[in-house]
Amino acid sequence: MIQTQSKIVHPGGFTGGIVRVPGDKSISHRTALLAGISSGVSTISGFLQAEDCLNTLKAMEAFGARSWFDEDGILSIQGTGGKMLEPAGPLDVGNSGTGMRLLAGLCAGSPITVTLSGDESLNSRPMRRIQEPLERMGAKIDLTDAGTAPMTIHGGSLHGIEYCLPVNSAQVKSCCILAGLYADGTTTVVEPVPTRDHTERMLRAVGAPIKVDGQNISIQGYGAKGPKFLARPYVVPGDFSSAAYWLAAAAAIPGCELRAENIGLNRRRTALLDVLRRMGAAVEVERTSLAADPEVYGNVTVRGAALRGTEVRGEEIPNLIDELPLVAVLGALASGRTAIRDAAELRVKESDRIAVMADNLASLGVCVRELDDGLLVEGPARVSPTRAIRTHGDHRIAMAMAVLAIFSDAPVCIGNVACVDTSYPEFWNQLQQLGVNVE
Ligand code: S3P
Repeated sequence: MIQTQSKIVHPGGFTGGIVRVPGDKSISHRTALLAGISSGVSTISGFLQAEDCLNTLKAMEAFGARSWFDEDGILSIQGTGGKMLEPAGPLDVGNSGTGMRLLAGLCAGSPITVTLSGDESLNSRPMRRIQEPLERMGAKIDLTDAGTAPMTIHGGSLHGIEYCLPVNSAQVKSCCILAGLYADGTTTVVEPVPTRDHTERMLRAVGAPIKVDGQNISIQGYGAKGPKFLARPYVVPGDFSSAAYWLAAAAAIPGCELRAENIGLNRRRTALLDVLRRMGAAVEVERTSLAADPEVYGNVTVRGAALRGTEVRGEEIPNLIDELPLVAVLGALASGRTAIRDAAELRVKESDRIAVMADNLASLGVCVRELDDGLLVEGPARVSPTRAIRTHGDHRIAMAMAVLAIFSDAPVCIGNVACVDTSYPEFWNQLQQLGVNVE
């Protein structure tokens, strides 16, 4: 895909207020998968209609599911009843690591051959991390010599294994759990550091035999016939990671107040709220979900302050992995040093987010140092553009840098922004609704 579109963000204007963001990306992917293999028609309200999730939905259709949206945006999915058909050709899942890794796990236990590929960014991301456990379970996975997609999965005849995750990755964990559904025997994934647990919660909600005992997550397999889940209604809350841009912008403006309504509050996603508090902002959380809901959701109000630097590292990292570019932005606005460590995974996201953030922050006059596993940012910076921001086709870089542009002393041009459509097509409109001038 050639991406040439750019945006100019003018400084100032951010008013705060009340905001509602589109549906959670991680949960939307997983509803497409689970509804796609259930028996009957599931309905999903709040499904994120962005490129990544729509590609996963299309892939599920290639495996035999059917899906349609009504005029209110409610998605219906008629599932396959557990069976996975062999797709007629290779499946292109676009930019999404979640789509590719979860789909690979889901189809690995069926006696079919499937080729998955993506865009240039996705086809350069590491896939040995799923090849290894899937091959130990009995599948055969072909990758390029570099260990990347295009990936061909020769599926079927899986057996359960015990697998200790070598990387803190919810995508790898979910891949193994989904493969375990179609395996004979029990699959146990050992997770030394907690990562987002949407897959586990959703499987529990559909009645799957999944057990979580400390670091061990076990799923009893149904064998190659697959599980017999019944269709059900799903409600996807707003995406915390999308609301994060607005919460962060408000946090850095003393006196500004912003309330994000109906957003996911899974505690393995919300470490940014702890970071905002440490940096000096006031954060209030109001839970509106019911005890029986599989996911926690509610409203978050942030009141801005003069921020101070902080450090994020260790077990906190997986719980704000997608917000780390934004933490670097906050570091540029806070007084003192902000350190991000233990985050080498950032180098294998949609772009090398450590190198790309260091380069872009420096181009705005921010004092930043690149570490192997993170960034050191000194603030507060006088934010002043010397050239256009280079997003490298990475949606989270584009959006995080758009937030920093609000604090600049001159308009900031952000190049190559079509990538934002992979997760948050309404981003620029919402930025304008919050008072910022965008061309
Ligand atoms: C995701 C997990 C995270 C995150 C990604 C979505 C998921 O990746 O960065 O945007 O939905 O499971 P890793 O678990 O590989 O770090």
